[in-house]
Amino acid sequence: MHQPIILGIETSCDETAAALFRGHEIIHHITATQLVHTSYGGVVPEYASREHNKLLGPVVRGVLEQSDMTLADIDGIAVTQGPGLAGSLLVGLSYAKGLSLGLKVPLYGINHIEGHIFANFIGQSELPTPFLCLLVSGGHTQLINVESSRSYKLIGQTRDDAAGEAFDKVARLLGIGYPGGPLIDKLSKTGDHSFHQFSRSSFPDSYDFSFSGLKTNVLQYINKQKPEFIRTHLEDIAASFQEAVVDVLAKHTIKAAKDFGHERIVLAGGVAANSRLREKMTELSEQHGQELYQPDLRYCTDNAAMIAYMGYWKSLLGSSDSLDIAAIPNLKLSFGG
Ligand code: KG4
Ligand code: ZN
Repeated sequence: MHQPIILGIETSCDETAAALFRGHEIIHHITATQLVHTSYGGVVPEYASREHNKLLGPVVRGVLEQSDMTLADIDGIAVTQGPGLAGSLLVGLSYAKGLSLGLKVPLYGINHIEGHIFANFIGQSELPTPFLCLLVSGGHTQLINVESSRSYKLIGQTRDDAAGEAFDKVARLLGIGYPGGPLIDKLSKTGDHSFHQFSRSSFPDSYDFSFSGLKTNVLQYINKQKPEFIRTHLEDIAASFQEAVVDVLAKHTIKAAKDFGHERIVLAGGVAANSRLREKMTELSEQHGQELYQPDLRYCTDNAAMIAYMGYWKSLLGSSDSLDIAAIPNLKLSFGG
């Protein structure tokens, strides 16, 4: 049977990425991280769209060349429709529409969040639903009951900052740089995570999260110390902050899985790359007899492989989109029940 060749395109934030899939199997993928934002300590939307414009053509050509393929081999185009930065999404979507029209192949608009969730199963021809998903990225912190690939129920979410946002903001407070998550993760490896007990928020009878109090707690703590002390204990402070985030994420997730009777837990999003979160979730899920899925590190942060993989699933269902679809910056998962 001919397996469809799907080209995936991702431009929702500051990664310009393309991937090629044959059926459910990845052939090749490229992610170009835009470096222009580093000196600003965060993503500058105007620069992001300009960079996508510059990088997308070469990235798509690169993925085709390295796969020994040409545009003529492509059977469908999958592209991130949202959520994300409006200008950035538009660059990818317009490019994908142009290719779909020119090559006369179907277009599949993909929800970036679904991409993150199902990135766990790239390469697999079956999706092991139901499961509980902890989605932790720069913009989202949610506990989702995934009943099937198109039925989601929101169990809990952050009431203020997303977990990734907290990592990025605290890294800025500590003067470490951007993006904060991977840098704090790296520093923490040589730090003592019990050096200081930062605050942990939770709400009675709720699986919601809150990280803005923790960020203020870190700020107050570092304001009280001498610069010399911060320099000497940077690794310990980073590790203690990271422990506070991971502690809350892991405990809520395990409790929700037990309360909702889930035997499978799935981690998703950029923060799922965090080594301490992966370690703690492995430990706790083993203790509680739950099966844990964690995306391959390459597919935690934004990438086009997860978009192409979702395109494959949409192609199986025959659910292509019209060339009229719009970029939706605040696209949500549709939560039922
Ligand atoms: O999923 P993602 O690439 O983009 C969004 O859809 O938001 O997530 C990016 C977020 C950033 O906040 C980044 O600091 C965080 O994921 N992140 C991490 C790690 N790697 C990326 N946070 C903690 N530890 C990491 N190793
Ligand atoms: Zn993302």
